[in-house]
Amino acid sequence: MLRAVVRAFGDPRQVIGLEEAERAAPGPGEVEIRIRRAAINPSDLIPVTGAYRSRTTLPFVPGFEGVGEIVRIGDGVTGFAPGQRVLPVGASGLWQEYLVRPAAWCFCVPDDLSDDQAAMAYVNPLTAFRLVDAVAAHFGRTGGQRIGVTAAASAIGRMLLVLLSDAGLHPVALVRSEAGAARLAESFAGEIAVQSPPALDAVLDAVGGEPGNALFRNIRPGGAFLQYGALSGAQLDPALVTARRKDVAFSFLWLRNWVHSAPREAIEAAFARSFEGIRAGYLGSTVDSVFALSDLAAALARQDAPARVGKLLLAP
Ligand SMILES: NC(=O)c1ccc[n+]([C@@H]2O[C@H](COP(=O)([O-])OP(=O)(O)OC[C@H]3O[C@@H](n4cnc5c(N)ncnc54)[C@H](OP(=O)(O)O)[C@@H]3O)[C@@H](O)[C@H]2O)c1
Repeated sequence: MLRAVVRAFGDPRQVIGLEEAERAAPGPGEVEIRIRRAAINPSDLIPVTGAYRSRTTLPFVPGFEGVGEIVRIGDGVTGFAPGQRVLPVGASGLWQEYLVRPAAWCFCVPDDLSDDQAAMAYVNPLTAFRLVDAVAAHFGRTGGQRIGVTAAASAIGRMLLVLLSDAGLHPVALVRSEAGAARLAESFAGEIAVQSPPALDAVLDAVGGEPGNALFRNIRPGGAFLQYGALSGAQLDPALVTARRKDVAFSFLWLRNWVHSAPREAIEAAFARSFEGIRAGYLGSTVDSVFALSDLAAALARQDAPARVGKLLLAP
């Protein structure tokens, strides 16, 4: 089978290779899955650069999100059958044709969702739920607090704008260019700010770096700053920023921390909510293109292209 492999940290376009490998048989408690679609997310590429080298073991197969079909079942597995579509979560490895994963880390996909929709039902929707729950919990009673969302035209940014409104909060979409603002305005009728945002009660930040620092400095007293990404290449330094503003609560939010500590029922409930939102339309992500895994180099080049207008999916 074909698989993508990272054997050294570096620029994803240079260090992610393709190679042939033997299929592994599922052991006790495991299933073998034929991957039908896998997403390319920023969170797949960041570990490749070595940003998390202390907790990333080389070599590894990238890909944290996607959908596949069970083909073989190991001893002692109950509740799963060959042919069933599942989302394998909890570890990377989806950028390959076949994956062996503990059944305990697989979640069933309803029949009415397409492979494309299912392949994007995990990382961004479940993180968006955690972020909105966290900011709502910070304020206790939500009553129109102004919540900035950076990189607001991203797949997760668009979900956050909807979920914040549903939670009784006032989303303020923050984008880095007028062109981005114009694109977002086609689908979002609320407040959009470029560069200098008005006063905010909280920020959900995927950018970090100097733009994140500037936002942090301007949050209203008693507010909150949740960092969940570092698209600028740099996270905020919690010690530094909170020393300057003790009246603003700073925290990081990483989906993997929740997924590895939540009971299975809580993850199932989050998936049920995600599937519902995808059916209703507000949690679906646009697909820019689907690439064969053998075309991975072209897919990675497209990931960085300014013309990209949605998610890239791999069809292993
Ligand atoms: N913490 C977690 O567990 C978790 C989970 C899910 C996602 N995330 C993070 O969420 C972020 C977005 O993910 P996604 O899948 O939604 O991405 P995506 O759909 O690929 O969108 C990327 C967006 O980022 C914007 N962008 C890129 N670099 C930027 C910069 N330096 N400053 C401002 N905006 C920038 C782009 O804006 P333009 O339109 O202006 O080009 C684009 O809208 C990523 O950082 C990802 O790691 C974190």
